[in-house]
Amino acid sequence: MTHHVQLFDPLLSPAAADDMVALCERFGRYPMYSQEKSSAEIGEGLAQRHDAVLNFIKSGGRFGRRDPLEVAAVRTNYFRAEYAYGDTARFAGIEPFLHHDGFVAAARAVHGRPLIEPAIVYANILLPGQELAVHTDVPEFRGANRKRFPQWLMVVMHHSGLFDAWRLRIVTGVAWFSACGGGEFAFYPDGADGPPRTLPAKRNSAVLLDTDSVFHGVDRVAGELAPLKPGMALVADGGGRWSVRDEADRAVAGYAWDDLRFSVSWKAYCFADAAEREAWRAHQDDLALEPILARLVDDLRARGRLSGEPPALTDLALLLIEEYVRFPPAQAA
Ligand SMILES: [Fe+2]
Repeated sequence: MTHHVQLFDPLLSPAAADDMVALCERFGRYPMYSQEKSSAEIGEGLAQRHDAVLNFIKSGGRFGRRDPLEVAAVRTNYFRAEYAYGDTARFAGIEPFLHHDGFVAAARAVHGRPLIEPAIVYANILLPGQELAVHTDVPEFRGANRKRFPQWLMVVMHHSGLFDAWRLRIVTGVAWFSACGGGEFAFYPDGADGPPRTLPAKRNSAVLLDTDSVFHGVDRVAGELAPLKPGMALVADGGGRWSVRDEADRAVAGYAWDDLRFSVSWKAYCFADAAEREAWRAHQDDLALEPILARLVDDLRARGRLSGEPPALTDLALLLIEEYVRFPPAQAA
């Protein structure tokens, strides 16, 4: 199956693109996004994105490079901040991006659903030497979202195909506003077995697709990886300069704008009609954890992956990830 992908080049007017850069600098401080551990009973102690972490460690990423674990952890721990939530701007100036007509039209085309509701706008900044492991995004179902359940479970649910009747259709637009070297957006529009496509992180261009279904990642940004540690933040110093600060606010590395890979992501829900949106908002027809697990366990039995009693929850979690989340193979560098 080939997924619908929409490209934008340019995305905004040159002046509006400059405004996005100014907005990024004005926002000023971007904490490192870290992998919180899941505290849910199922898969306790696994990383929230255990599926993607396991694959990155096993495969060494898209090019089969291997790092010590602590290097891999900071290499893939980029910097993030939220600019809008729902259809509300959380930071002045993001409105033209939040309500971009081209994104709305493309969102309708991806899922064939007319009612588009913005969910979130956030910035991702990757430093030289950083990359983003291949993954699919955390999907959402009526009654199953990242506030209630570990993220890998929703990923498993989607890849199993067993819960499509409850899945919220979501699209993501990713736009780039810096001019770094490397940092290509790599994705698999024909599925995990198909060839990857890459897009340069070209200033003022964008792509929109269903990132819950299409595997994607970010290739390594040109330059050396700084000695990063969890808890650090990226700070705008003015005059086009940025620094990474430790928890005592000491600078550990300095950068110019075009060393950084700055992207802004737009996510939106796509509903067939007002009734479908209302079912989600009013929590009609929500899924609960027990029936989700029961259905997955039944399916594992039907596939011959399980006989007798299900294993302890953490082992069950690892079996579910292995069985359902089939990543694209690594390729030669
Ligand atoms: Fe993603």
